[in-house]
Formats: sequence, C-alpha cells, structure tokens
Amino acid sequence: MATIFDDYAAKFAGSHALWERARKIIPSGVNHDVRYINPFPLYMDRAQGCRKWDIENHEFIDLCTGHGSLILGHGHPAILKALHAAADKYTHPSAPTPYEVRWAELVTTIVPCAEMVRFQLSGTEATMLAMRIARAHTGRNIIVKLRDHFHGWHDYAMIEYVPPYEIPGSAGVPPCVAGAVRTVPIRDLAAMEAALAPRDVAAVILEADGPAGGAVPTRPGYLQGLRELTKMYGTILIFDEVITGFRMAPGGAQEYFGVTPDMATYAKAICGGVPGSAVAGKAEIMGDMTLRPDDPEHNRKKRVRHQGTFSANPVTAAVGAAALELLKDGRMQDQAAKMADHMRVGVNAAIREAGVAGCLYGTRSTLCLALGDDLPQISDPAEFAQTVEPHRLLQRVKQPLLKALQCAQLLEGVDLLAGTHAWTSGVMTEADMDEAVHRWARALHRVIAEGYLAGKARTVKTA
Ligand SMILES: Cc1ncc(COP(=O)(O)O)c(C=O)c1O
Repeated sequence: MATIFDDYAAKFAGSHALWERARKIIPSGVNHDVRYINPFPLYMDRAQGCRKWDIENHEFIDLCTGHGSLILGHGHPAILKALHAAADKYTHPSAPTPYEVRWAELVTTIVPCAEMVRFQLSGTEATMLAMRIARAHTGRNIIVKLRDHFHGWHDYAMIEYVPPYEIPGSAGVPPCVAGAVRTVPIRDLAAMEAALAPRDVAAVILEADGPAGGAVPTRPGYLQGLRELTKMYGTILIFDEVITGFRMAPGGAQEYFGVTPDMATYAKAICGGVPGSAVAGKAEIMGDMTLRPDDPEHNRKKRVRHQGTFSANPVTAAVGAAALELLKDGRMQDQAAKMADHMRVGVNAAIREAGVAGCLYGTRSTLCLALGDDLPQISDPAEFAQTVEPHRLLQRVKQPLLKALQCAQLLEGVDLLAGTHAWTSGVMTEADMDEAVHRWARALHRVIAEGYLAGKARTVKTA
C-alpha cells in the first residue's frame, strides 16, 4: 500500500521538480528555514481569502496565514486597492510620502505605548533597532532576553534561543555578542529580579504572550510583575509584538493583558501582508532618534542612527495604513479569535475521538499543535498548556511523527506553518474551519494508520 511519502511524491511531482532546480542554487531550495519541508516544500501559485493553490492547482486551506501577518486574509479588496493605488504612483520617491504619516498616526492612536514610531522592513530589524534605542537612552549595554523567546534572526536574538543554550542558536554568531545579552528562564520573576539588580540592564525584551508565538502561554500576573521590576530598576520594557501586534487586540498584547511597556516592536499584521515593521514607544525614548539640525555634536555622539533604503516605502505604508483602518475597531480580531476557538474545539474533538494524546491550544487567533504518545490526554486547551512542561510544549510534535503529519496535512489540503503553528484571519468562516478540521482529522488518521501515533485508526468520510 502507498505510504504518506509515496503519495506526497506522486501528488506534488511538479513542486519536487522545481525544488530540484532551486536547491542547486538556493540553500535547501527555500529562503526562510521554516518553509523547508522534508522531503521537499510545495511551491505556490496563487491565494485568495484563506485558500491557496500550488503550481499544479492543488487547493489548500491556508492556516499559515502569511506567517501570521494576514489577519485580513489573502487578497482583501481594501488591501489590493491601496497597494495598486500606491504602486501606480511610485515605489520609491526617495522622500517621505503622505502614506507614512497616516500610517504613523494610526499606530500612535491605536497602540497604548506608542507616542512615536519609526518604520523598517522586518521584525528582525525592529527588535535590533529597539535594543539599540534602549541602550542609547539608558547609557547601559546589557539587554535581558527570556530564554526560548524569538526576536528574529540577528545575532543578539540567537542567544539562548534554542537548546543547547551554551552555544548561540546559529553558527557564525561571535562569542562577544553573548556578553551583551543576559538571559532569564521563562516564568521566573525571581531570576528576572536577580538579572536586573546590578542596574546595568538597558531593556528587557520578550514575547508578551509567551515564547515561540505563545507556545508556552504567559502565566497571569507575570507581565504585571515584570512591569514593576523594570520600573524599579530603571530598565526599559520592550514587548516584541511582531505577532501579537494588531492581532490579539487592536492595541496588541499590551491592550489584551493590560500592561503598557515603554516600547514595542511590530511587523506582520501592521503591514497588511506586505513587508515592513515598526518600533513604537514613548516620545521621551523614541526622541533619541530625532536629528537636531543645529547640533552636529549631539547628532554624531548621542543620536540613534537608523536608515534602510526601503523603510516606510509608499507601497508598504499605503497598505499598512489601509490595514490599520480595518483593524482599529477590533472586529476582525474578534472574528479571527472566534474562528480559532471553533478550530480548537473541532481538532480537540478529533484528537479525543481518535484516542491519541495532544491538543490544539493557543490564545486568541493563535493556534499551537502539540501531539505525541508522551503527552497527556487533556482536551481543554488552557489546562493542557498549563499542565504540560514548557520544554515539551516548545517541541510540539517530535520526529518522525512531525514529518509524516506535515506531509499528511498537505496531502489532505490543510497547511500549518512548520506543521504545528497556525493563525486564523478575520475573513475565515465556520464553514472554512469545519472543512479544515475535517481535512486535519483525515491527516491524523493517516499517521495513526501508518503507526506514527498510537490510537484507533479509522477512515473519516469526505464531506
Ligand atoms: C516575535 C517575533 N519577533 C520577531 C520576528 C522576526 O520578524 P521577521 O521575520 O519579520 O524578521 C518574528 C517572526 O516570526 C517573531 O515572531
């Protein structure tokens, strides 16, 4: 009988051929490590709403949702209108445009901590810049980072990002970088206080909803405690809201949790699905970037430098402003969260019925999948996430199950990022979610049938 991998190779032969061309000239044939799929990734042709089609016209329910950026779904009419209108005029006038002023006004109106904002092109750039601003503002050199938290792929973000923690998360990071970053275990305010006590810490940066996009949900009271400690030790608090910004709520995690940081970093939803990012924060801190025309000494020695050829380019700024107009009242975020709840209920029922262990959990419109015979059989997402040990949650689905599950999901027409992480959008419907659950349940039964998970394998009828 044909296995998952036989069927995968046969069904997606066109992508395989393209990947064979790509991998000779692009390392692993992809330009983002997470898009690599073993045995080969699928190449996409087009997308609309919550669906996408590969180069051989296979259709998928797309739960990757632009790595979380497409809270308005693919091809939203208001986004396309803004994109075309700006691109028809210019893509780079080498001067500011009205679009970025409107975009900045929206950010500073919607986000609690945002009195001023500067735009860049990626979340990686945003967190790097926020660290620099914090160091300049405080005159301190150390950044405190929480272990396992993700802030992009720059050198500072690679410290204690993945185990083994003794070495940086990537080859090529010089040892001196570790000297500028102090790390603290998650969920541990006593360790945080010990890290801040020497009063040499410029900033604490963290994913407010927990590491790896909320895979280990933040415990109630943690952010409030952290806010107190950072104030006490004169340290700037930075929320990395690259995923949560404009997604958890219009004002992001800081609005949702009711804790206002000094600065925050954004990418993904803030740009409505095109490349871009932002650092926002208190005017007193962000003002360190302000040029003083009559003070060259200050500009050279005290000011924070930031450039970027395509920073706030008109296409991104126009799309970003159009996206925030749609996101400012919170209706899209609430619909996305409702759809995520629907998906959690459906998938967890399928897991329970199949007699396997694991859970689809996550906060608001974020979905995290953990599956494996070593996990408890707990269907309630909140209970599951608080019961399972953080490092097991971070592993989500272990090999060889992960490889089989990811291929089975794609064979059945449902795509989760890296096979385990998903986001809903405000244009998804209950019918979309029911279909996604049904497809996912078929994938689950396939991996059970092939012995990757213990459970009662059975065939799920097609809708
Ligand atoms: C919390 C967080 N910070 C930073 C980044 C890096 O953003 P980018 O991929 O745009 O560089 C990501 C990306 O997923 C993220 O999730």
